[in-house]
Amino acid sequence: MGKISDALERRRKETALKSEKHPLAVPERIVEERSPKIISKPLLDFTGFSHKLVVVTAPDSMDAENFKVLRGQILFPQKGEPPRCIMVTSAFPGEGKTYVAANLAVSIALGINEHVLMVDCDLRRPSLHKMLGYKRAEGLREYLRGERDLPELLVKTKIDKLSLLMAGKPAHNPSELLASSAMREFIREVKNRYDDRYIILDATPSQVTAEANVLAHNVDGVVFVVMNQKAPRETVRRSIENLGKNKIIGIVFNGYSKSYKAYDKYYKRYYK
Ligand SMILES: Nc1ncnc2c1ncn2[C@@H]1O[C@H](COP(=O)(O)OP(=O)(O)OP(=O)(O)O)[C@@H](O)[C@H]1O
Ligand SMILES: [Mg+2]
Repeated sequence: MGKISDALERRRKETALKSEKHPLAVPERIVEERSPKIISKPLLDFTGFSHKLVVVTAPDSMDAENFKVLRGQILFPQKGEPPRCIMVTSAFPGEGKTYVAANLAVSIALGINEHVLMVDCDLRRPSLHKMLGYKRAEGLREYLRGERDLPELLVKTKIDKLSLLMAGKPAHNPSELLASSAMREFIREVKNRYDDRYIILDATPSQVTAEANVLAHNVDGVVFVVMNQKAPRETVRRSIENLGKNKIIGIVFNGYSKSYKAYDKYYKRYYK
């Protein structure tokens, strides 16, 4: 009797040990994130977040609060499902696309459940990597040219649940790459592969490059940034029409004025 129970006990311990060595299969995405290919990316030097990443560097500011409002409007639309693949663009350069894309993406990733993948689709003057504290490295360009697989290029950022695909090395044919069927395929692939993530694309200006209008066809929604006193009203109207009115999920009026600054101080006092 004693021998049998000893044998049973031994068997129980062996089984327990075996199942410790082979834990339950984990979903594909988590396996990928732990794969050496992604872990190798933290070897990139982290130089610190840009101070323009206000949702991290100034979380109590009114700007950061505005991004939380934008996040809420995107994640909880009045009608239908929230758009999962969102492009940020503007009519002209320098209107704040990267500023909005980065802060919006981080704001979503700071939520309890949401995972975000940011993609720098500005192959001409990429800067998303700087906002997140990295030097330029391989990314979308290398993927579109078939030189690398996606998991090799994704950067796990210093913000939990936020990964980044940089633009990559300088490309001499950015329009062709972004308007290619490979790019269409890329968007389809990331949407399927990372089906629990929001995907935020930082794009080029729609009035001076061809690619933003093409990309708009492949995303679920577009956030259009208008810098105060930059794009004339008529240009904004035309840009929105070209992108497709039905794709516009929000217009961000980006501006900076003394009165706005004063209100920011008031805001901090009032809410803290
Ligand atoms: N609301 C803001 N508050 C403070 N700085 C801002 C704001 N919006 C934009 N900026 C700054 O203005 C500059 C241009 O912004 P940004 O790079 O985001 O524009 P962009 O539209 O992405 O430009 P590009 O067309 O060159 O990609 C940057 O230095 C950015 O940090
Ligand atoms: Mg930019």
